[in-house]
Order: sequence, then structure tokens, then C-alpha cells
Amino acid sequence: MKDTLLPNEIRNSLKTRIFGQKEMYHFTTAVSTNDIAGDLGRRGAPEGTLVIAETQTGGKGRMGRTWHSPPGTGIYLSIILRPGIVPAGANKITLMTAVAAAEAVKKFCPDGLMIKWPNDILINGKKAAGILTTMDTSGDSVHYVIVGIGINVNAGPESFPGDLRDIATSLFMETGMPVRREILVREFLESFECFYRILLEGDFRVIREIWKEQSNIMGKEVTAEVRDCTVSGKAVDLDDEGFLLVRDAAGGLHRIISGDIIKIH
Ligand code: BTN
Repeated sequence: MKDTLLPNEIRNSLKTRIFGQKEMYHFTTAVSTNDIAGDLGRRGAPEGTLVIAETQTGGKGRMGRTWHSPPGTGIYLSIILRPGIVPAGANKITLMTAVAAAEAVKKFCPDGLMIKWPNDILINGKKAAGILTTMDTSGDSVHYVIVGIGINVNAGPESFPGDLRDIATSLFMETGMPVRREILVREFLESFECFYRILLEGDFRVIREIWKEQSNIMGKEVTAEVRDCTVSGKAVDLDDEGFLLVRDAAGGLHRIISGDIIKIH
């Protein structure tokens, strides 16, 4: 399917007030939309500024990984936020983005979707989307937050390198149906704006409940890798601050802010 993500196509019938209605930068090729958004953020670009690329040559993933970004088949999008939060609050933005992305993706792929802590979107157990949040801070102030999202939309199995083939998927691979990317971007921006407003209104509980319903680990025995350590136990909750709570065999409660689930027992 030959489609592009030009600003005018995305804006056409977009039902948001901020996201997608302000500056939107479209690149045929970018190294990383998060890097470009970071530069724009430093130069004072307003909340709601979007950066979109058809392909990235140096797409960034969490924990220093790369994000495979083949041309024309995925969504590579970064959003500038100025939420007036303290740095610890950025975690909730990432969880909120996962919920917003899950709602949008489900419109095209209603079955088999789960959120893998903290913010991977899985379809039938394989990763279809990821989120990378960065921020610029000084002391307790956050100048801006960059939320970057990558969604594998129309990629076929041949477009993933060998090491990703067993763990990555796309909406097309799971449903057999190509998706018009600009429609999915619109769905995501509408969902993102809705949940972002809920978050700013202080209602993280709503987001947390939706996140938990879709999580692939709640109530399960897991092993999480946190920095250089591992924590094993039952994933019992996501708390008010967006920390994952894991109860170990000795009854100790671990509050985990970031890391990776390396095993679900
Ligand atoms: C992850 O799951 O590791 C996060 C992946 C985030 C990828 C997106 S694609 C758009 C934006 N630009 C980047 O360089 N990374 C994010």
C-alpha cells in the first residue's frame, strides 16, 4: 500500500484540539524523530509539536537499543509535551501513551493485544509498537518531554532482520489486512489527547486501571531485570505513581520504575 504521512493528510478530519493541529514536521528520512523533537524542544517549540518520518536511519529504542524503521511501512512519530510536572511524573506519561496506543491499535487489530510492562504493545505475544520517553530537566523542573512512538504497521516478515523475526510483528502480519497509516496516526493522536487530558486532570487512576486490564503480567510470576539486578516474584499491582509492584517469595515488596520483564513463569 502506497501511503504517506504528510501533515495535510493527517490533519484531514483529525478530531483533536492540540495534537496534530500545530507545527508538524514531516521527513522522508530522519536519523531519529526523537532527536529532532529534542532540538525543537530546546529551541522552544510548543506543546503538541509533532515530528514524523517515513524512515529512520538511527531510530532509538529503550535501554540503548535501536528501533528498526523500514521506509513507508511503519509510524515513527515524536511529540513535544510541556506538562508542568516533576521528573518522576514522566513515567505516568509513558504508561498513558501505551494505553493511548493500545486503544488506537485495537481499532485495526481487536484481538490478541497486550501491554508488556512498561510500555510495549504486543499482538499475539510479539512486539508491534514501542515507546521511548525522554525529557529535559533542571532540578525539579521539566522543560519538555519527548514521547516517541514506533508502530510496525504494514511491514511483512521479510522486512525484519533475523534477530527480530521471532519477537516482532506488525498489524498487517497479524490481521492480513494493510492499514492506512494516516488513519492510524489520527486514531492515535485523538486517543493520546484524550488520555493526556485525563492525566493532567490528575486522574491517573483511570489510566492505571486500563493499563492493568491489558497488561500481560498482572497476577503472574515474573522476573524483571532492573539495572544490573533481577527481581523475581508476583506482579501484584501498578501503584499511584506508575511503579510496578512485585512481591517476592519472602514477602518483600519491590517498587520498580523501569527495566524489562525477562521471564513470565
Ligand atoms: C522501544 O520499545 O524500545 C522504544 C521504541 C521507540 C521507537 C520510536 S520511533 C519514533 C521515535 N524516534 C526514535 O528514535 N525512537 C522513537
